[in-house]
Formats: sequence, C-alpha cells, structure tokens
Amino acid sequence: MCVRIFAYLNYRVPRTRKEIFETLVKGLQRLEYRGYDSAGIAVDGPRKTATDVNDNAICLIKKKGKVKALDEELYKKDSLDLDEELSTHFGLAHTRWATHGEPSAVNSHPHRSDKDNEFVVIHNGIITNYKELKAYLITKGYEFESETDTEVIPKLTKYVYDNRENDITFSTLVERVIKQLEGAFALVFKSRHYPGEAVSTRRGSPLLIGVRSEHELSTENIPIQYNTGDCSQPRAHSFLLKFAIIEHTNKVLYLEDNDIAAVTGGKLSIHRINRQAGEDPVRAIQTLQMELQQIMKGNFDAFMQKEIFEQPESVVNTMRGRICFDTNTVLLGGLKDHLKEIKRCRRLIVIGCGTSFHAAVATRQILEELTELSVMVELASDFLDRNTPVFRDDVCFFISQSGETADTLMALRYCKSQGALTVGITNTVGSSICRETDCGVHINAGPEIGVASTKAYTSQFVALAMFGLMMSEDRLSLQQRRLEIINSLRDLPELIKKVLAQDKKIKAIAEELYQQKSLLVMGRGFHYATCLEGALKIKEITYMHSEGILAGELKHGPLALIDKDMPVIMIIMRDACYTKCQNALQQVTARSGRPIIICCQDDTDMCKNAYQTIELPHTVDCLQGILSVIPLQLLSFHLAVLRGYDVSSQHSV
Ligand code: M6R
Repeated sequence: MCVRIFAYLNYRVPRTRKEIFETLVKGLQRLEYRGYDSAGIAVDGPRKTATDVNDNAICLIKKKGKVKALDEELYKKDSLDLDEELSTHFGLAHTRWATHGEPSAVNSHPHRSDKDNEFVVIHNGIITNYKELKAYLITKGYEFESETDTEVIPKLTKYVYDNRENDITFSTLVERVIKQLEGAFALVFKSRHYPGEAVSTRRGSPLLIGVRSEHELSTENIPIQYNTGDCSQPRAHSFLLKFAIIEHTNKVLYLEDNDIAAVTGGKLSIHRINRQAGEDPVRAIQTLQMELQQIMKGNFDAFMQKEIFEQPESVVNTMRGRICFDTNTVLLGGLKDHLKEIKRCRRLIVIGCGTSFHAAVATRQILEELTELSVMVELASDFLDRNTPVFRDDVCFFISQSGETADTLMALRYCKSQGALTVGITNTVGSSICRETDCGVHINAGPEIGVASTKAYTSQFVALAMFGLMMSEDRLSLQQRRLEIINSLRDLPELIKKVLAQDKKIKAIAEELYQQKSLLVMGRGFHYATCLEGALKIKEITYMHSEGILAGELKHGPLALIDKDMPVIMIIMRDACYTKCQNALQQVTARSGRPIIICCQDDTDMCKNAYQTIELPHTVDCLQGILSVIPLQLLSFHLAVLRGYDVSSQHSV
C-alpha cells in the first residue's frame, strides 16, 4: 500500500516558513516509495504587508521528479520569506504516481479551484465519475489545467461555495462535495476562505490523523457529530479538542469511510451525514504501540533487509501468548468465540492479494489436513471479477499486511453482504480490514515498512498454521501431526537464523545472476507458494522478469524455456514431492539447464546435480516453506542492490 498525502497544522505554535517546509518535506520523505514521479506542496503565501493577516494567499509549489527536487525548488522562491513566523498555519504535501495524465508539475498535486487558489486539495485514490463532473463544471465556465481526475474536486468545491445560500462551515462544504464523488479517496482540503482550518475525509483509502497537544488531551474518544439534513451553521455543542500541533506523535485516530474531520480554531471535530444503525458513535484516539527504533533502519541498508533479518523475532511475536509449548495447545483469542461456527462451516475461503495471497497458497494444504474442510484460496481481484458464489455457511479469511488493500477490502464487504463469517488476518491494528471483519488475528509482525513484504509473509504463514492447530485440537487422529508441527514452531526461530546465516553465500549467487534478464523459480507441493512468492519479490524489487513455475506443469509448456543460459532456481526438499521434483530436475538438466537448488542439508544427490545449492535446515514439511522463502527474499534484495536500485527508498507506509 502506498500512502502519499501528508498535511501539517500548527495552531498557535509559531513556526517559521522554513520549519514548515522542513516538516512537509520530511513528511513526504517518510512516505517516499518507489515509482512516484512528482511532488508538490501548498502553504500560505506572502502577505502584501507585514500586518496584513487577512490576505490568506495560498502558494503552490509543484515539481516533476523526486522530493529532493521539490525541496530544492522551495528555496528558490524569493517571494517567500523563510524566516517569517506563522503562528497558525496549515500546509499540504503530496507525491504523485501518474495515473491520469503524464508526470508533470501541472498534473501533480495539490490541485486548485482557480488561479487565485481559493481551494486546494491533495488526493490519494481515484475519482471514477470525474469525466461527468468535469463536463458539468465546464458548462459552468470552469477551465481545467490538468489531465487528472483530482482537479474536479477543488473546482467542484468552489462551485458549491460560490452557490451557497448562507454562511457555510468548511466541513459542511466538503460534505456537500463528497456527496457528488464516486470512487476512492483520502482527501485534504485547504482554502483561503478558511485560513488556518483543515478538513480531511476518506472513502476507501486510508487516512490517519496524528494528534499532539501541549496539554493533556481531555478525552481519548471523539464523538461523531451527525448532520441531520444539511445544516450550514457550526453546531453549538460540537465537541472541542484543543490542539497545539499535529505533528509526529503516537496519538492517532483512524477515520472511517465518509467521516469528515475538521480542525477549526485548533479544535478537532468529526462529522458524518446520517447515523447508521450499529455505528460506533465515537472515534477513539489510539496510542500507536510503535517504538521509534522499530521503524529505524538500524545497521541495515534498507528496511527490506532489516525486516528479512527480523524474522526470527517476528515469528515469535506471532506465536507469543498463543501457543503453549508445555501443554501443546494453541489459542487464538480473536477466534475462540467463533470456533464452533467455523467448525460447522461448509468451506474456508482464504482471500488476499500479492504476498498475502501467497501465504494462503502456502498454508492451504495444512489447513485442509488439519481442519478437514474444503479450502479455496482466492486472489481478491479475481474473486470479485467472478462474482464468486458465497454462502451464509462459508467462512471467509482476508489476509492483508496493511489491512487496507482495496480489492481485499471490497471482497470482504462482498462476503459480508452474502452473510458469511469474516475473519481478518492483518498486521495493522485499527486498519479497515481489522475493523470490518467479524473476528480475526493480528499477526504482530511489527511495522513492515519495506515495499516488499517479507516478515509479514512468514508471520501470516505461522498465524494460519496456528489456526489449523487450534481447529484440530480435539481430533485424536491428528494429535501426532499436531505435536510435530508445534515442536517445529518452537524451533522455527533458531532455524530461521541458520538460513539467514547463509546471506553471504546468497549474495555471491546474486553476483552471478544480477545481469540476467530472467529468472525461473520451480517447485511443487508445499513449495509452490515459495516459487510464486520468490518470483514476485524478484520482479518487484529487481525489475527483472521472474516466474514461479509449478514443477508438475513443466512438461506442459515451460520446459521450452530451459537451456544452458536460462537461470533456474529449483526447490527440492525431502518431502512427499521429492521424487517428483527429482524428475523435474532431470528434465531441466537434460536440456542443459544449470539449476541452483534449494534443498535439505546434506542432500548429496542434489549437490551432485546442481550448479549451486543452498542447503536448508530441516523442519516439518508443512513449515519448510517458511525456511525456503528466506533465501529468495535475500536473493531479491541483493539482486536489486547489484542492479543499482535504491532499495532503501522503497517504503510502503
Ligand atoms: O497489505 P496487503 O498484504 O494487503 O498487500 C497486498 C499486496 O499488495 C502486497 O503483498 C504486495 O504483493 C507486496 N508488496 C509484495 O512484496
């Protein structure tokens, strides 16, 4: 997930314009992710006279390229006095990844209502009815300067403002605007008509408000104000919460879809149009349980690398308090009240995207074995495209690191509407998927900041395996198997460390491979998911073509790709598929392929046939995929660095 908007309001806390620039730029840098192509900010402009506080001009600075280029541009503006102190100020910042219109300054955000910048907006998401809105606004005389979908929003805001009958609050204005929007958005609005005020809202895209006050907050819960009808006056009894600044803080609140958050006179209020039955009447201010050191890179070059090396601890955190190794019992607190219902279900449907989907593929077999249920695994987008039949007695799992992936969230809403029980497996407390599922499991892997998902995958894997163990506690015939898995989970962190210890060897392999155009990853059974996941990591981080191939499919086409020049990685572990994999290996070597084999320690047969081997410690077959994916995570990291990509700037939050 890429979040790209950042806004900063200081209320009665003097900040120089330079400090404000620095905060906005730093905010963007923290959100920097691979692929964005332009950046922009909106700040209060210069005053005509030193005393002219009512001038309220808004200044937009936008630049094609990286945040660094924008940062340099900011200091070229002679008209902006960097030392001027602004006691109250609201600034917006945005990085854009071109979807509508080429990368350029004019297409980048913030977008504006008119040449006087009366309303400016930053947007994350997509407005699907922008063409209709644009056509309408053009008939009203509005001229568009960009090719983006977003530009309709500030223009529509001005249109509604200019056609108001009475005084109107900023939040009511925004409420009227978003009623007309279709699609997904997280939006932040700034206006010269409402100086020092901020309004933000969301639908389908995540939005987090950080709260910081010099004084202790008078409450941890913000009541929602419901606007019945279309009231245009501020509500007399609106709840007031004083802010000194909203900046870097561990106090946050998550907006729900269609919430409108407004800060007026330093006071935060949250509005909605109508109250729905069963709706939570407050938004809680939560304390992020995230230490700064958890989100620092430490001695590592990139978050991805750090997160790969965190796996011995992150899997422990997933198991902590849930597996008792003395009694061999597993209890997932978030699911215990629903266990009976789950055991009675018709089938389990496990849904996700990308890596999260691969975690479902990786655990499907052990879930089938331990739950004795039919298990479907589904890519969320395809599941939705097919309008897959879902029934009241289905149990649907939604796997998502971020808890915000749009397709997974839409699949969740669809399954809910069909009456199925919904279970979230997420890494982000308070995320949309967390909140909207009936029950769930937090994988507790800690923040995953690298764009490539690594430790979340292994923790999702462990969480799903634990679910299988919990479901099979009373099955006598499965006790031996359960014991074997529980013992292996206990030993897992040490085994992961042994795999990580091979980093140098893997780097040396990367040095041989990094100039190749393509890399195939082959395996089957418990390691098919590793092939898909390894290939995804390689594509995503190294920009190299890579394909995960089910070894059983080799003779049905992919064998044609094999020759002495095509790099192939094969995963051949001593499990039920060993002999079948050996057959695949023969087919590869018969075509002069030179496979790099990920195999069990001391497998002399493999060592003889391989061009290179990466030997893994042994664990129970159904968990071996946790160990076999790690060399591919490391390989993709080293390949990316050797190919000259700046993995350190690939952040996802
Ligand atoms: O946050 P989610 O787990 O829902 O994200 C799903 C995918 O976008 C994600 O796993 C993606 O495939 C990874 N960045 C791959 O490394």
